[in-house]
Formats: sequence, structure tokens, C-alpha cells
Amino acid sequence: MKKIVVLTSGGDAPGMNAAIRAVVRTGNYYGLSVYGCKLGYQGLVDEKLILLEPENVANCIQHGGTILKAERCAAFYEKSVRDRCRDFLASNHIDGLIVIGGNGTFHGAALLSEEGGPATIGIPGTIDNDIPNTDYTVGFDTARNTALQAIDKIRDTASSHNRNFLVEVMGRKSGFLAVDVGIAGGAEVIVIPEFEISVQAIADKLTQHKRPKQSSIIVVAEADKPGRSIEMAEQLEKITHVPYRVCILGHTQRGGSPTMMDRLIASEMGFLAVKSLMEKESHKMTAVKRGEVVLAAFPKLDESMRVFTDKRLLELNEVLCV
Ligand code: F6P
Repeated sequence: MKKIVVLTSGGDAPGMNAAIRAVVRTGNYYGLSVYGCKLGYQGLVDEKLILLEPENVANCIQHGGTILKAERCAAFYEKSVRDRCRDFLASNHIDGLIVIGGNGTFHGAALLSEEGGPATIGIPGTIDNDIPNTDYTVGFDTARNTALQAIDKIRDTASSHNRNFLVEVMGRKSGFLAVDVGIAGGAEVIVIPEFEISVQAIADKLTQHKRPKQSSIIVVAEADKPGRSIEMAEQLEKITHVPYRVCILGHTQRGGSPTMMDRLIASEMGFLAVKSLMEKESHKMTAVKRGEVVLAAFPKLDESMRVFTDKRLLELNEVLCV
């Protein structure tokens, strides 16, 4: 293992820079040349690599976004495009590839690796926390803290004006973010795609509270339909004859300085990814299991994304939101 490439792909997530920094500095420490590829797989398609020295990743651990930039590269789903990228990497004597990103990123990496690409290790980075085989993805903690701060602020207004709010959080097809911020923010109702409830059921829940509430916050996971809370608010108003305000947190949740947890986990994962390549591992990902950063199998190509299943947390919220 002499030359490796690192890239960030898909949606950005806070902590990606900490992971890049760890990859570059670990690689450099052990005598590897580390190259960066800009804009995710698009950089491979464009055949552009940049040598990354330790000083190139100075002063980035505290910043959100990704210094390598990221893109969702539709072209990479085409085998002929991947073949060209594989040949480009081979002709540049690249022995190892580290990809940082979400499900789409991992899918692309698994295909390239199966088709004879360089040894590949994935680092899970997405605010959705929805990658199989790991309990945690880099960026999730920062996103849930960002959303929680927003909810705390909205709560002030909700309470001062006796108002009801729907707060929509991200999570393409998963409710992990909504459940955590809902519980920590004292939401009256949490709506997630894995355990979807009707608007009538939400209205019933709000009226069934043990004590009369003059304001409420309903946390809604966007569930692949960004903006869906607007229609829900209209329907709730029709049923309850009470106004509902909507706040869609959107991309505010993707940016910002990564939390301590994201910086630490990203650093550990970057270090482990490089060490794993040096130990001739491939087609694997770094993961968090029972609180430890370990190496795990790549999700299978036909495996769907990880979804929220822990119904106990929803029951807990039912009990606590009285
Ligand atoms: O996967 C991360 C995520 O932020 C999802 O929560 C969201 O559905 C999606 O990306 C938004 O993607 P984009 O930034 O491309 O609109």
C-alpha cells in the first residue's frame, strides 16, 4: 500500500473534515501518499487527483462541510463510467480508496470494488444515521444538536404565544433524527416514516394529554417528502380548528461546526480506515458497534438503508410528553 485516494460524496455531513484530516495525517505518518479527489466520484470521472500533505488539512477539524467538496454523481451508476474510473486509478498506481459518505456513496464504492477497483474502505458520513452495519454515522450528533437548539428556540415562542408548531427535520427515509430531537426537545408528538400515523391520530394524541396544553411542538421527519409538514398543518387545522405554524429546518441541519462526538468518531474512523488498508483489508467499512469504532462488512448491494425500529423510544415519548 503506497498511494491512496480519499473522497467525500453525497450530502455533506459535519465531521467529514475531521475524517479527511485523520486519513491524510495517518497516511502520511505511515509513509503513504494520500490524494484527494474533489466533488466525490465526479473527481474520478474528471480524472483529477490532488496530493494532500498534512498542512493541507490544517485548521479544518472544527469546520462543517467538506474541504474536498461533495456531489451526488449520477454518472457513476453507469458501469462504463466506473470502468474508466477504475482504469484511471490503476494507471496512477492507486492501491487504496477511502470513501466518506452515505448509502449512495457506499453503493458506488461497493460496485467499484467488486469490479476490480483498488482496495476500498468506507467511512459512514451522513446526518441521517441510516447506513446498515453501523450504529452511528458521522454528522448525526451535530445535526441532532442543531435541530434541538432550533426546537428550544421555537418552544419559547410556542409557549409565549400559546401556539402550535410542526417542526420538520431531515432524514430521507428514516426517523432517527426526529426521534432523538423529539425526545430531547420535549415534543408532544413525533411523526416518522417507520411508524407513520394519520393526521387524525396526531389530533387525537394532542387532545388526549392528561393536562390541558396551550402550545405544542410536533416533530415531523421529512421522509423523502421535504415540506410535507405544510400539508399536515393544513389538515390539522381543519380537524382541530386551531392554527398550526410550520418550521422546516432543512439544510441548517447539515452544516455547522461538528460536535466533540463527531470529531472524535470521525478521527478514529479515518485512522482505522488507513490502518485497515495497510493490513490488506478491503470491501469493508468503519463502524460504531456497542460504542466502539470497529471494522465491519460493507452493506450488501441489495440491502436497503437502516431504518428506525426501537419502538420503546416512541413509547417513552408518549409517557413523557403528558
Ligand atoms: O442524506 C442526507 C440528507 O440531508 C437527507 O436528510 C435529505 O433528505 C437529503 O440529504 C437532501 O439532499 P439534498 O441536499 O441533495 O437536497
